[in-house]
Amino acid sequence: MNSNKIREQFINYFKKNKHKVFESSSLWPQDDPSVLLTIAGMQQFKPFFMGILNPEKELQSTSIASVQRCFRTSDIEEVGDKIHNTFFEMLGNFSFGQYFKDEAIKLAWNFLIKKLKINKKFLWTTYFKGEKGLKKDIETFEVWQKYIDGEKIIGFGKKENWWGPPGKTGPCGPSSEIHYDLTGQPCQKGNLCKPNCQCGRFIELWNLVFMQYHINSKGTLNKLPKNNIDTGLGLERLAMILQKKDNIFATDLFNDLVNTIIIDKSFGNSNDYEDVIRSRIAADHMKGSVFLLADNVYFSNKEQGYVLRKIFRRALDQYLHSNVNLENIVDSVCETYKKTYPHLIKKKQNILSSLQKELNAYKKVLEIDVNEIVSKINKLKHQTKRLALKGPSSRKLTAQEAFVIYSTYGLSPERLKRKGFTFDDESFKKLIIKHQQLSRDNTNNKFGGHGLNSKEWSNEDRQKIIRLHTATHLLHQALRDVLGLNVKQQGSDINPERLRFDFEHSEKLTDDEKQKIENIVNEKIKQNLPVTKKEMKYLDAIKDGALAFFKEKYPEIVNVYSVGQYSKELCGGPHVKNSGEIGSFKIISEKSSSSGIRRIKSIVK
Ligand code: SER
Repeated sequence: MNSNKIREQFINYFKKNKHKVFESSSLWPQDDPSVLLTIAGMQQFKPFFMGILNPEKELQSTSIASVQRCFRTSDIEEVGDKIHNTFFEMLGNFSFGQYFKDEAIKLAWNFLIKKLKINKKFLWTTYFKGEKGLKKDIETFEVWQKYIDGEKIIGFGKKENWWGPPGKTGPCGPSSEIHYDLTGQPCQKGNLCKPNCQCGRFIELWNLVFMQYHINSKGTLNKLPKNNIDTGLGLERLAMILQKKDNIFATDLFNDLVNTIIIDKSFGNSNDYEDVIRSRIAADHMKGSVFLLADNVYFSNKEQGYVLRKIFRRALDQYLHSNVNLENIVDSVCETYKKTYPHLIKKKQNILSSLQKELNAYKKVLEIDVNEIVSKINKLKHQTKRLALKGPSSRKLTAQEAFVIYSTYGLSPERLKRKGFTFDDESFKKLIIKHQQLSRDNTNNKFGGHGLNSKEWSNEDRQKIIRLHTATHLLHQALRDVLGLNVKQQGSDINPERLRFDFEHSEKLTDDEKQKIENIVNEKIKQNLPVTKKEMKYLDAIKDGALAFFKEKYPEIVNVYSVGQYSKELCGGPHVKNSGEIGSFKIISEKSSSSGIRRIKSIVK
């Protein structure tokens, strides 16, 4: 069964079983600052699990199904084996207080056995056996006994059979997994060879999560208002089984891409085992890069953009040299997914040109020669008052040195290792996290107005920044009024001279659009609207329609600034008291800042 058919079967089955079908949300979660990327189908429905939004009112249904594109960096080191990937699709069904364990298990079982005709002798299941004050999930064990022999229903602890939340806080609960027995043969462990055995006999297929709890930032577990269901079935793994392949890369979701990569003259010999692994890593990461770019992530050294840079450069690291045929790669991904994700086709040219630019940037990095790096490191060691090392021993780096090389020259940790350098991975990762935190704080400072404390600015400058800041809020709302709700903030910077605002939008603004936006802002200024501040819970604020800079991580309690009834936005302030104080507003430039992102600069007088 090809993968288009599998998706279709899943959707039709759940439609027949009274589920409303929802489109996949973006890989870049637009209204959930607790995570960088979408890792599960449940994410776009989080407020419904938490009882914050009413599914009947907002979704006109309490039972939902979707095919969600997901991206997980947690498995990145495993990519190259038979079953792991970073980008994948999750088939999921969700219930917000509608049905629970009994029905969820029945639905899953019947789909596999009756609809897909999978032989039940290959299926095993797991349940939560209790841990640290959390009760054994005896109900689930009992329900499974209606379908499967007791010795194939195995209990595990929290590590295996508890899911969520994605991020630090949110809904979570005990889970039950359906595993497929690939070989029917126990490994040398004999009877101890069961689901979750590392021997490769079992593959986890479907995770049924019984979302009963919410965990807050202090780690306290509270019962959710309702018992919910969140399930996730991995499309690539299901395709592997239904298409009788030995690994996910041989399914129709990967086959063409892997072949494209192997045919590329800059790749190795497809028969060599090492090269097989390299072709899989390249295929997975190239596909992930295409999908991230299609969801408007752009290359950078921070957050989502850093993930994109890392996987794309890691894909390139698999090639023998850098004459990679990116056009064939993008073509292949678009061809495979065009029916399910037509947005890829629309963005194809943008994706290709972003990849090409990043490839060129990386080529420059790769041209840096080893000797030059060694001498730079030595200089660095000298600067930090450590003895300069000579010869091969200088290839032993501290994590800090590796990080400086990475952040200054863009040489990825993988490349650095390939060039024979060694350093401590864990400390390196910690530095990356610290770096991300710092850049986040800088953004907060600039935009939250704390930049006002800068010593270089006079009182007059500060007043100007405050006026520009309120004008930015009006501009944000006016952009959405004129260009549509897909306009989303991507960044902002204010100095006494001007404001700068980056936002997601694919086309150049026409003169007419710019004029309209300018008119709206000036109109709102003239109306002398009061600017007010309210403290709210983050989720209540979003529910209330407040705009947020979704790349930002917000605390649980936030400030919401409103300009009359016109604009409402999460922000640290400060702002003017009345829009009339802004003066007159003018757009001085509008241009592209990166692929799919426009940049406006404006002044106030
Ligand atoms: N959220 C669960 C998972 O990602 C089930 O969908 O495995």
